[in-house]
Amino acid sequence: MNVLLIGGGGREHALAWALSASPLIEKLYAAPGNAGIADVAECVPIDAADHAAVLRFIGEAGIDFVVVGPEAPLVAGLGDALAEAGIKHFGPSQAAAQLEGSKGFTKDLCREAGIPTAAYGRFKDAASAKAYLVTQPVPIVVKADGLAAGKGVVVAESRAEAEAAIDACFAGAFGAAGAEVIVEECLVGEEASFFALCDGTTALALATAQDHKRVGDGDTGPNTGGMGAYSPAPVMTPGLVERTMDEIIRPTVAAMAARGTPFKGVLFAGLMITADGPKLIEYNVRFGDPETQVLMMRLQSDLLAAMVATADGVLDHFDLRWSDDAALTVVLAAKGYPGTPEKGTEIRGLEAAREVAGVEIFHAGTRRDGERILADGGRVLAVTALGATVAEAQARAYEAISKIDWPGGFWRSDIGWRAVLRETAAGQ
Ligand code: AMP
Ligand code: GLY
Repeated sequence: MNVLLIGGGGREHALAWALSASPLIEKLYAAPGNAGIADVAECVPIDAADHAAVLRFIGEAGIDFVVVGPEAPLVAGLGDALAEAGIKHFGPSQAAAQLEGSKGFTKDLCREAGIPTAAYGRFKDAASAKAYLVTQPVPIVVKADGLAAGKGVVVAESRAEAEAAIDACFAGAFGAAGAEVIVEECLVGEEASFFALCDGTTALALATAQDHKRVGDGDTGPNTGGMGAYSPAPVMTPGLVERTMDEIIRPTVAAMAARGTPFKGVLFAGLMITADGPKLIEYNVRFGDPETQVLMMRLQSDLLAAMVATADGVLDHFDLRWSDDAALTVVLAAKGYPGTPEKGTEIRGLEAAREVAGVEIFHAGTRRDGERILADGGRVLAVTALGATVAEAQARAYEAISKIDWPGGFWRSDIGWRAVLRETAAGQ
């Protein structure tokens, strides 16, 4: 098959790496790709927002299957454009992508289907949001309804902070995404990332994973897209996986099918593991970044076959095999991230780093300049390792990082700390 992968981040490098190993692949293209993806795919400079250009390329290159990595093209209806043109693809329709595109849509769906999530209110003006606020305890969470590139959420410690967040949203801090605001209960517990392939009726859970959202060691500082991740996530016991499938994922798949907007693709549930069990924080309609980097390291089945089975609606006949090894990834970010990152600094030592046993280096924001690799984004590299335990994968990832010479970058030094503590307590 000729396959086109849309996207150019660390998630897409990991997907491209796994897709390129499929026996079904004839030729893999990535749009736009990056300097790392170029090692396993042909990168083409197509803007995914230009559906006509995507369709033109599909015709010219004889593409049989399209994999959409990021959420923005899905929320903008690229899946529908592909469906109308009769192109088989992995990724939901625009109507189903509302699960990520509108937090209010998802909250209402949870309420109707009895899916455990934080109590909430939806508001179209500041006065009514603030009137609700005074009836609720703090801390409390304020969210822009639409896509805000991970920046539209404030966990407010005080009512004043929550009011400021409400005002910022309605003042246009997130553009159209902030035209509606959700005010919701602050959940307490440990977060986990849960992924399931969904073919419209059947859901198939992937291996468990956790990421680190805060920029600094000890999970401090501002939120980011994710500074590192590991799999498996010891907090997700088999019992919790079953509860998540029964109480959250399957009711969502059923509710979407009942509305006539079946969900096909990968459903990514951000979970809070509370004292009462798993609760849904939010849905994403695409793979996680950097969770995908660790999941692809452990996936032993053919990713392309799994994606085609998802598109064909035959997941009930499908199973996935995972390595017993643990995987861990550390994100190397450009100084300034999650604010404005410094671009264009040179990264050296990647060949030596790649030689460490069990290590793969996924590029997230890089470009090639002759022989040089330059930083070209906020999150720049994801140094990823397998090991018999999370602790071993962690040691290998940091050994590889010690060989990278990049004064323009920074990274956390404690990725995986919760899992390593749990392993130590279990005597592993
Ligand atoms: P989101 O973009 O909805 O995933 O939110 C970003 C982060 O904000 C999450 O990963 C959580 O750490 C935090 N967060 C969002 N909603 C809640 C909530 N209701 N209770 C506690 N933390 C939350
Ligand atoms: N790592 C979280 C995300 O991809 O949104």
